[in-house]
Amino acid sequence: MTAWAIEHFDEVGSTQDVARERLVDGRVIVAAWQRAGRGRHGRPWSAPPGLALLFSAVMVPPEEVTPVLPLLAGIAVHDAIAATVGIAVDLKWPNDVLTDGAKVAGILVERPSGPFAILGVGINANLEAADLPGDAATSLLIRTGHHVDLDALLAAVLTQLDQWQERAVSAGTGAIVGAWRERTLMLGRPVEVVLPDRTVRGIAEDVTASGALLVRSPRGVEAFIAGDVRQVRQR
Ligand code: BTN
Repeated sequence: MTAWAIEHFDEVGSTQDVARERLVDGRVIVAAWQRAGRGRHGRPWSAPPGLALLFSAVMVPPEEVTPVLPLLAGIAVHDAIAATVGIAVDLKWPNDVLTDGAKVAGILVERPSGPFAILGVGINANLEAADLPGDAATSLLIRTGHHVDLDALLAAVLTQLDQWQERAVSAGTGAIVGAWRERTLMLGRPVEVVLPDRTVRGIAEDVTASGALLVRSPRGVEAFIAGDVRQVRQR
């Protein structure tokens, strides 16, 4: 079990940057508000003060776990939300957490120097509709009508991270890929992978042992390790 050491801040630039200044395994930086929160693909990530769970956890994953850490983190956040709030959630590759097709949590894995990984998690917990960046997002409050205890949710995510890391070590990373498959609705469905130079449209077929997304398009099956994936609604 990791000895998580949690530090709370009222305001930071990004919890990712504060964590980067404190590279110790198990350090967790929580902020009520971020002036410059960031998401994947260089996008901003913002939420009004005190309403979202915003944290960064410094981890030293076992070497064999590193490739699947983004998937593992998604599973941990998925299971923590399901256990704490009791709503149905699912995963969009690599680790967006959705409910009824709308995003409720985002995860950013950054690799600073050495063996460290910084896992940034933003969960739209107690946001009202007007607080959300757009209608592709939702919150736990909107879905349940109840406010969520942010400390309890944080504790649940950290517990799940420990459990899934232990499982990855004991059962192998194939168990992580298997657990991810069980928590997604996107496999077998149409997707668009938006890359800097092109967009690939096809069917999301599977994830590989190293966490890449396999998409079958008219050009054949391609593996993606990065890219912005959109689920295409079926008529
Ligand atoms: C995404 O879906 O694009 C990832 C969003 C990650 C946001 C979290 S909030 C806490 C941590 N600090 C940041 O600046 N980003 C992550």
